Amino acid sequence: MPVVMFHDALASPDAWRDGLAARIPELDFRVWPDIGDPGEIEFAMVWNLPPGSYAGMTGLRCICSLGQGVDHLFLDPDLPRDVPIMRLVDPWMSQSMTEWILLNLLYFHRQGPEYDALVRQHRWHVLPPPETSECRVGIMGLGALGLHAARAISGLGFPTAGWARTARTVDGVEVYSGNGQLTDFLARTDVLCCLLPLTAATRGIINTDTLALLPRGTFVINAARGAHIVDEDLLAALDSGQVAGAALDVFHTEPLPPEHAYWAHPAVRVWPHVSAQTNPATALEQVAAAIRRVADGRIPENLVDPTLGY
Ligand code: GLV
Repeated sequence: MPVVMFHDALASPDAWRDGLAARIPELDFRVWPDIGDPGEIEFAMVWNLPPGSYAGMTGLRCICSLGQGVDHLFLDPDLPRDVPIMRLVDPWMSQSMTEWILLNLLYFHRQGPEYDALVRQHRWHVLPPPETSECRVGIMGLGALGLHAARAISGLGFPTAGWARTARTVDGVEVYSGNGQLTDFLARTDVLCCLLPLTAATRGIINTDTLALLPRGTFVINAARGAHIVDEDLLAALDSGQVAGAALDVFHTEPLPPEHAYWAHPAVRVWPHVSAQTNPATALEQVAAAIRRVADGRIPENLVDPTLGY
């Protein structure tokens, strides 16, 4: 009987419990912190589990992030090093993320900020139409989410580039790779979308130096993690006009503190981390498959490489 622990302070366990029970009737589903003997837990489904909570989980066989990002796991210095970690890779979340990226990209591209300002003044004024073939979009991160978004954006006719750790070929997307090609990638980008995993190598990657490499008037869209951006640097670039606007779904501290400068900044669109929410209805199947594999002594899919941090 597989013993599973669930922890997500933001979500109810009910849909997961019911959905897993329907797929694996013999499952023993325990909700943190009422997990009984920690030594019995074999499979941990977690989101922001408080550091130190793995103490005593000597029978753990797999840790599953209840999101696509896994940076929350590595915040725990006591994360068991010998237990495989998997993450969700859910086409529904990729679709949801792409919709959110497109919503903000098209808002900026179709002069949403300018028209909103005109509407506030009750002014009927027509701007010259924007040219899609001249709006160069750059996606940082070509994982499941970045690739899905890049393909959709390219499909709409935007000149689309991606920046990834390693070189690869993607139809319709110009791929730049490694630190050596970051400058060229930024220099050709009019709308920058961040979909990177948060690792030691990507923390603070959007800062004064990298923002200065973008053409003046670029838009920045961040749906990855707040810590990819140095907030003071982005605010300074917005105030100087180097960056024309930003759509931000993720922040260093969430919820975004009420006094944070982003809330009131006229060029910033703040979203409450909703670009691609975890959906038990679509993610259940892969979690159930992973539990079955672990119970059979096999390795689950979508494993994380702890040395890379994603
Ligand atoms: C959400 O932020 C996720 O990592 O899935």
